[in-house]
This record gives sequence, structure tokens and C-alpha cells, in this order.
Amino acid sequence: MNFDSKVAVVTGAASGIGEATAKRLAQYGAKVVIADIDEDGAKRVAAEIAHSGGEAAFRRTDIAREDDVTSLIAFAVSTYGGLHLAHNNAAIGHTPTPLHELDTATFDTVTGIGLRGTFFCMRAEIAHMIGHGGGAIVNTASGAGLKAAAGLHAYVATKHAVVGLTRNAGLDYAPYDIRVNAVAPGPIKTPQMASYPQELQDQWARLIPMGRMGTTEEVADVVTFLLSDAAGFVTGTTLEIDGAYVQSSTQ
Ligand SMILES: NC(=O)c1ccc[n+]([C@@H]2O[C@H](COP(=O)([O-])OP(=O)(O)OC[C@H]3O[C@@H](n4cnc5c(N)ncnc54)[C@H](O)[C@@H]3O)[C@@H](O)[C@H]2O)c1
Repeated sequence: MNFDSKVAVVTGAASGIGEATAKRLAQYGAKVVIADIDEDGAKRVAAEIAHSGGEAAFRRTDIAREDDVTSLIAFAVSTYGGLHLAHNNAAIGHTPTPLHELDTATFDTVTGIGLRGTFFCMRAEIAHMIGHGGGAIVNTASGAGLKAAAGLHAYVATKHAVVGLTRNAGLDYAPYDIRVNAVAPGPIKTPQMASYPQELQDQWARLIPMGRMGTTEEVADVVTFLLSDAAGFVTGTTLEIDGAYVQSSTQ
């Protein structure tokens, strides 16, 4: 994997899956812009990348804000001279709630970040890439983008929509050498996941045919593959990273 001379933006890179991808991309030579609302976390990740000999810069970005996203892409281009790769990863979940009791504010916040925010990022990235020789984009969907998840109506709608946006953009931008793919992680052992009681984690792990949760590095490895030239003929697809979770009948 070689991303020398490539510039990458990773949203939600202050923690979890985004952090792992930012570190992998930097390890393989990319200059990485860490976009997040969590300044402390993002600065820690940028410092750790620099400490390992990589190059990264932090840009505070709320992806739900159109102007923040426009500034993010302008920042990447002015700081590192271009934009070739993007991992649109930031999103939030919500407490499982019956649909008829789901309040509008929660629906708007969850879709506003995970769907509208992903759209804002894709639009700004593609607008740059289309005039500069193409690029590669990976969106973070979820197993919840491919099947139902009880009570998670806003999150499931968001992630299904991310799969749809990915598919459509893959189609429309193939002639411009812009590849757009998504990953659909199953339960992944992020710091937040690891903070739950072990008994609960074991219960979730038993729902996965492989009998364990995935790691953030396992997701980052697939994201970097999809962003790389090794996936040069892959676009519009959503790749499950879930130990056969979606393929199983259990939930
Ligand atoms: N962890 C899992 O099991 C799992 C499974 C499937 C999909 N996902 C998806 O993976 C992605 C990353 O999740 P994670 O588990 O690493 O979570 P995380 O909470 O560890 O990281 C999410 C990051 O996004 C940032 N963020 C939140 N709102 C933002 C906004 N408006 N603008 C910019 N940044 C924002 C947070 O500050 C945080 O740093 C999400 O899209 C999530 O839906 C996670």
C-alpha cells in the first residue's frame, strides 16, 4: 500500500474507526486531514501520527454544517496542495426507540450528521476531484445500512441512505475516475464499545457468527484497500466487515 503524495480527509477521525483509518493512511504515506468536532481527540491523533513519522493536520469540522465542510476541503487543498482520498466516516447513533415515539429532534440530528453531513462531504470532495484527475471516496455505512436493527429507525434510515448515495455516486462519477465505495462494519470494538460491561460485550459477540467483534484496524485495512489503486475497478459497492453478521439470520 503506497499513498505517497496523496492527500486524504477523514471525518470522525478523533476516535474509533476514523482514528484507525487516519493512522493507516498516514502510515502508508498520505498526508491526512483529521476532521472532527472533538478537538482534544483530534489533536491527540494528529500528535500520535506525527510521533510515528507521519503527516497530519487537524481541522475542526462539524460535518452537519455546510460551511464547515466547504472550509474543510479548502483547508486540505491549501495545506497539502490537493485532495485525492476521503473517508466520510462521522456519524452518531441513538437510543433504540419505537418509531411512533421517536422525536423529531433526534431524527433530524442523526440524519443531519450521518446522511446530510455525508452528502455535504461527498459533494465538496467530488467538486474538487472532478477537476483534478479523480480520486477515491469511502463512506462508512453499517450493517444497519443493509438490514433492520430494532428501534434504530433514524440510524437505519441514515445508513441505508449512505449505501444508496454510494451506489449512485459510484455510477455517476465512474467516467471521471472518481471511485465511491462504502464499508458496512458490524459491531466493532471501539473505545466506547469497550467501555460497556464485559457481559454485554460477550452477549453482542455471540450474535456474530465469528464469535467476536471486529477491531478498528480491521475496518481501516478494508477502507485503505478500497481507497488504494488495488481496488481500481471497484466502485459503487458496499463491503461488509462483520464476521458474517449481516448474512446470519440472528440480530
Ligand atoms: N463501532 C461500531 O460498532 C460501528 C458499527 C457500524 C458502523 N459504525 C459507524 O462507524 C463510524 C465511526 O463510528 P465509531 O464507532 O468509530 O464511533 P466513535 O464515536 O468512536 O467516533 C465517531 C467520531 O465522529 C465524531 N463526530 C460526531 N459527530 C460529528 C460531526 N457532526 N462532525 C464531525 N465529527 C463528528 C466524534 O467526535 C468521534 O470522534 C460511524 O459512521 C458509525 O455509525 C460503527
